Amino acid sequence: MERFKSKLSSIFPNISGSVSAKCPSNIALIKYWGKREVQIPMNPSLSFTLNESNTQTELRFSPQTSGEFQVKVYLDNELKEDFAPKIITFFKRIEEFIPFLRNYEFEIRTHNTFPHSSGIASSASGMGALALCLTQLENQLGAEMTENEGLVKSSFLARLGSGSACRSIYPGITVWGETSAVEGSSDLYAVPYPYEIHESFRNFRDQILLIDEGQKEVSSTVGHQLMEGHPYAKKRFESAEENLNRLTPILKEGNLDEFGTIVEHEALSLHAMMMTSTPYYILMKPNTLQVIEKIWEFRKETSLPLFFTLDAGANVHLLYPQKNEKEIETHIEKELKSYCKQGKTIKDFTF
Ligand code: PMV
Repeated sequence: MERFKSKLSSIFPNISGSVSAKCPSNIALIKYWGKREVQIPMNPSLSFTLNESNTQTELRFSPQTSGEFQVKVYLDNELKEDFAPKIITFFKRIEEFIPFLRNYEFEIRTHNTFPHSSGIASSASGMGALALCLTQLENQLGAEMTENEGLVKSSFLARLGSGSACRSIYPGITVWGETSAVEGSSDLYAVPYPYEIHESFRNFRDQILLIDEGQKEVSSTVGHQLMEGHPYAKKRFESAEENLNRLTPILKEGNLDEFGTIVEHEALSLHAMMMTSTPYYILMKPNTLQVIEKIWEFRKETSLPLFFTLDAGANVHLLYPQKNEKEIETHIEKELKSYCKQGKTIKDFTF
């Protein structure tokens, strides 16, 4: 952990200013569900970083001497008093690594390019963008980190805000969690996927069907806790690692059917964990299941590579290669959109 301590001295310049950063969200293919202190995953995860769905954050700072954390958070220019406690918890966790947090008063001004509660993790892009702002500011105050050191530290900090956020710091495919399947992987930060990726996965589509727009029934904080003492936890953690191992040759060779089998197995495993925890939850809605059946029917009839994944909610992420987007999007338009709230979907893609 020493490498993440700041090189700054404890005297900070009496200046005001601002830094800003943009960070995308991501969608996990191998899911992180279950952690230990502090924000260490119980299994490795792998995700596609998205392109369009991102958070833009400006961090304004000015000197203060209260000795307390002073933070105001604005979402789309509106003061959000209820966001501040989460940021203060984050600041407490990272104070050891970012020493100037009590020396300035902060205003965080943030904007998401996607709607709230849409099945896209704003905690991932939001914490990612804030972490990038903080390392930028650390450099502005004299830390002299190289670009690569800044990214690794940003991923390390983002993880302490929201685990999956650490994967959003890099574009493309990223991996978080130490595993022998991926050289250089770490529990402390994410790394860009270091192996060959078949061109079928370039520009891979993620179209999100907004089945349900309400607040999340189970927050991920509660969800991770439900894995403590869960009767199937150990097997689940092993299975995620096995799935990651199996995915490596598939990503190289571009076998889409096998890709879909693993990705769908991961999504359903995540939900199976929630259905069998104490207390138990069903986070899918009837329309989630209808859509899944429709996807399977479509694949059987056409052999086209349309797959799904799910986060901890009812919305369905449709995954398909750019090459087949025309036929698949015609099908989505005709057969799947009617299952969404007001026919709403969000289109995104990977690297
Ligand atoms: O980063 P958290 O604590 O919000 O957890 C994210 C968990 C999932 O989105 C369900 C899976 C994942 O790996 O992103």
